[in-house]
Amino acid sequence: MGRIIAIANQKGGVGKTTTAINLSACLASLGKKVLSLDLDPQGNMTSGLGVDKDEIENSVYNLIIGECGIEECICKDVIENLDVLPSNINLSAAEIELIGVDDKEYIIKNAMEKVKNKYDFIIIDCPPALSMLTINAMTTANSILVPIQCEYYALEGLSQLIHTINLVQERLNSKLYIEGVVFTMYDARTNLSLQVVENVKENLEQEIYKTIIPRNIRLAEAPSYGMPISMYDPKSSGAESYMMLAEEVIHKGEEKE
Ligand SMILES: Nc1ncnc2c1ncn2[C@@H]1O[C@H](COP(=O)(O)OP(=O)(O)O)[C@@H](O)[C@H]1O
Ligand SMILES: [Mg+2]
Repeated sequence: MGRIIAIANQKGGVGKTTTAINLSACLASLGKKVLSLDLDPQGNMTSGLGVDKDEIENSVYNLIIGECGIEECICKDVIENLDVLPSNINLSAAEIELIGVDDKEYIIKNAMEKVKNKYDFIIIDCPPALSMLTINAMTTANSILVPIQCEYYALEGLSQLIHTINLVQERLNSKLYIEGVVFTMYDARTNLSLQVVENVKENLEQEIYKTIIPRNIRLAEAPSYGMPISMYDPKSSGAESYMMLAEEVIHKGEEKE
C-alpha cells in the first residue's frame, strides 16, 4: 500500500515546499508512482512542478467545496510517474467554507480514498499554519516529515507542532506518526548551521534524517522555471541531497513494513 507523507511546519520559509517538490520528483525518478498534493493556497508546489496555477480548471478548493470529483482535479503525468493535485489562491477561502461542515477534518482524507491505491507515495505540502487545511493533511497522512531550517530560531514553534500532531493522533488519526525531521538550508561555511544541528539532535527526541539539505542557490532558482531540481540541475548539490533523501524515505518505509 502507498504511503502518504505530509510535509509540515507552521513556520514559513523553512523549506516545506522545496522539500515537497523535490522529494516528489526524486521519488518519481526512482520509479515510484507519486501524487503531489498541494494544500497551500500559495500554490508554490503546483507552479514549482510546472503546472500553471492560474490556468487550472479544478483545484483542491473545488474538491473541498464539492464542485468536482477527485479525478477531475488531478493533473496527470506532469512529470514521468508524477501527478499533481493543484491549488491556487482560491484555496484561501476553504477555511471559511469548512465552517460548520460535518467531518470537516476528513474532507481530503475521504476524497483521497478513491485514488490513493494508485500511488506509491502521496506527498502533501502544508500551508504555514496549524489550520484546518493542515489538520486535513494530518488526518490524510500516515506520517509527518518536518523540515527544520538551520537557523537560530530552528526549535521555535516545534513544541506546538508536536502537540498538534499528538492531538490529531489521539483524536482523529491514531496511526499518525512523525516520520522524521530534515535539516534544510545547511550552510557549511557557518558555525551556526552546525550548532543548530547539534542543538536539535540533543533536545528533540525525534527521528532525524541522515541526509541534510544544503543551502544551494539552484534549489531557489528551479521553481521559476517550473522544474524540480532533478530536471533543472541534476548535478547540483541540491539535486544530489534530495535524491539521497528520497532513497532514505523509501528505505525507512521498507524497514517499517
Ligand atoms: N536548500 C535551499 N537552498 C537555498 N534556498 C532554499 C533552500 N530551501 C528553500 N530555499 C528557498 O527558501 C525560500 C523558502 O523555502 P520554501 O520551500 O518556500 O519554504 P516554506 O514552504 O516552508 O515556506 C524559498 O525562496 C526557497 O526557494
Ligand atoms: Mg510553502
